[in-house]
Amino acid sequence: MDITSLFDAPKNPAYFDSAASSLTAKPVRAKMEEFYSQYRANIHRGAHRYTKKASQEYEAVYAKLAKFFHAKESEFIQVRNTTEAINGVALGLDFQRGDEIVTTSIEHHSNLLPWLRLKEKGVVVRILEADDEGKLAPDKLKALLTPKTKLVALTACSNVLGTKEPLEQLVKVSKDNHSLVLLDAAQQVGHHPLDLSKVKADYMAFSGHKVFGPTGIGALYHREGAPLAPWFVGGGTIREASLEGYKLLENHERFEAGTPAIAEWMGLGAALDTIDKIGYPKIEAHEKKLISAMFSAFASNPKVSLYGPKSAQDKACALFAFSVGRVPHHEVAVMLDQFGFACRSGHHCAMPLTKRLGVEGTVRASLHVYNNEEEVRMFGEALQKVGALA
Ligand code: ALA
Repeated sequence: MDITSLFDAPKNPAYFDSAASSLTAKPVRAKMEEFYSQYRANIHRGAHRYTKKASQEYEAVYAKLAKFFHAKESEFIQVRNTTEAINGVALGLDFQRGDEIVTTSIEHHSNLLPWLRLKEKGVVVRILEADDEGKLAPDKLKALLTPKTKLVALTACSNVLGTKEPLEQLVKVSKDNHSLVLLDAAQQVGHHPLDLSKVKADYMAFSGHKVFGPTGIGALYHREGAPLAPWFVGGGTIREASLEGYKLLENHERFEAGTPAIAEWMGLGAALDTIDKIGYPKIEAHEKKLISAMFSAFASNPKVSLYGPKSAQDKACALFAFSVGRVPHHEVAVMLDQFGFACRSGHHCAMPLTKRLGVEGTVRASLHVYNNEEEVRMFGEALQKVGALA
């Protein structure tokens, strides 16, 4: 199958910013258009044919999620994005003074700020320091855990360094300590399979817009039996309501207050179908080639400082943060844009990590299945031109 036919990938500049947001697959746009043009109605309300069809298509997405992640339909909650999902867990768990949370030095703000905010309640936040290439060590994590560690909140893959992490072992060490585990899988799901029957996290969050889906939609996985209270209540969440009180529904619907993002949810389902259609083995094989081509492009440029793993086998995805000499990061990004490449520059919503790298910001090139080795070769040439100006 020709992967490029599934996307409208821009050529000039080429899109090298997929870690910020991937391109949206054509079947995703088609699914949303199908809803808007053929059965636009609210869901779970009424008996006419449009609401029935919309409800059916909407419900089918839970089944897709369950199959995709090897979990149960009732374990998925609709959210706007990873940030909302993680804030939901921070608000929905009963944290008490003295409880401990472990998170890491390589998190983006979404998986750091909601925990830091809990310090106001007397919660202790401990930081697992990654090594210089962004690798998290299970034995170092073990040393930080205590009987008071209520939650371990880890990224599955850093959005700045793209390091491959020993996820199964990190989760196991935490579960052996009887701690709850949250995985921030925003940078993982678009690149590698995540089998939640093997990686036994209690909570897992990801966003649609990083997995070829629409913006404004994501999912929170909540393992059956793991504690979590709804952070919002309202229409759609209750079994019964009176002027005195209400009874919440038992299943995941108790978390989804109000009319949901119907079209985007269906779009998310189509995004997972697109990944299935391409197949993770093909995505991984394609990215492996891109990773190795990118390393060659950087290696031939003495002006470039690369952050994160130094070898291809330690990269989880084709994501590279770098600096060129002493040229400010935004200036490098503007030059690269002019030479034909759209890269992100800044702190990538991970200010503590950027500070730890000893810089104010970096340029980040992040590629995906719709990029190719010829683009990478030309990117190498563009970098040489930028280097010559440095
Ligand atoms: N977290 C997103 C990024 O890495 C927005 O750019």
